[in-house]
Amino acid sequence: MVSHERIKMGYEVKCTVCGKASASLLEYKCAGCGNPLGVKVEESFSERGVRKKCCGVWRYIKFFPYINAKDVVSLGEGWTPLVRFSGNLHFKLESLNPTGSFKDRGSTVLVSAIHREVKRLGGFIAEDSSGNAGASIAAYAARAKIKAKIYVPEGVSGPKFNQIISYGAEVVKVPGSRSRVAEEAQKPEKGKFYVGHILHPVFRDGIRSLAYEVAEQLKWRAPERIYLPVSAGTLLLGVISGFKHLTESGMITNMPKIVACQTSQVSPLYHRSKGLPYHPPEKVTSVADALVSTNPPLLELMAEELTAIGGDAVMVEEGEIVQAFHELARKGFFVEPSSAVAYAGYQKHLRNGETTRKEKTVVILTGTGLKFHGVDKLLQMRGLNNKETLFI
Ligand SMILES: Cc1ncc(COP(=O)(O)O)c(C=O)c1O
Ligand SMILES: [Zn+2]
Repeated sequence: MVSHERIKMGYEVKCTVCGKASASLLEYKCAGCGNPLGVKVEESFSERGVRKKCCGVWRYIKFFPYINAKDVVSLGEGWTPLVRFSGNLHFKLESLNPTGSFKDRGSTVLVSAIHREVKRLGGFIAEDSSGNAGASIAAYAARAKIKAKIYVPEGVSGPKFNQIISYGAEVVKVPGSRSRVAEEAQKPEKGKFYVGHILHPVFRDGIRSLAYEVAEQLKWRAPERIYLPVSAGTLLLGVISGFKHLTESGMITNMPKIVACQTSQVSPLYHRSKGLPYHPPEKVTSVADALVSTNPPLLELMAEELTAIGGDAVMVEEGEIVQAFHELARKGFFVEPSSAVAYAGYQKHLRNGETTRKEKTVVILTGTGLKFHGVDKLLQMRGLNNKETLFI
């Protein structure tokens, strides 16, 4: 579809740097300069536009004008609980999405947008992922009856690997850095359409729905603060885009202070936003094993957007992540350590006086603990190994 036809339909997909319009929803980067693409929706957000009978991401279908209702590929994603934890602190349980993480928001929108064209061309989709996104894309590809080839790092968590295989995707394990995995996935192959979630603008665009939900669940008020984990930046950029849309449409009056939470090993955005040099480790060994992007392709965009909205960044140490994981679990929230990073960031800000318990805050709990492979080790660190728990 050419650019002016898209504008007539109420959206544009164009380069975030040079502004060149993309020629197809299958494109994942600017054909002119190679920089990331972004989706812009013309339609203002309005409560009238929400399909209230539909519980999930697709209640907001009107604000994804590039999707035809008959093409929607859904597994029941979205409308995850927003639980008041204590006082003004809320948890958004993204771990309860169909494949166990927030990635399902991106996958449902991406696969809905492209599956017809991929089938028409007789092709298959390729994705690179540290685990959760691969599992999610594999599930939605299965639902859409298209083939998926998922490239993962050699050290991928066993349960995530098994989940991807179970959905029927082909899995390729790639040794070396996370960037090497992406390079392999992007290598041309007959029939292959690379739709890597990190770069693909439509995957990122699906995450917008998370901002709409938080605002709607709070009766169309934004929280004062949001803490979320950041690696490649799709969650951060998607949430910012959703809240920008809501403020520009007059649905909410204040932009929440969005705080990007990173580990000390993987903290390029934190260092950039504090004006500090970042020296990544040779190998990422953090317990937060889904946060591995030491050199994220969207870093410039993340830094720009975070500054533009007056957001902030915080960095947490391994001990703080482990502590946050246990604390959440002891209160009934069993999430993966990568998700506990956001809670650890919130607690650090409380301790430092950067925030107070008075501020209405949402911490995004991004992924379930059920597919984290290192729980044994974390329990042993607390002296709670299997033997003790069996014989006490
Ligand atoms: C559970 C979990 N939380 C947070 C993130 C970070 O998301 P992003 O890479 O979009 O920054 C990921 C990414 O893989 C994840 O799997
Ligand atoms: Zn460009």
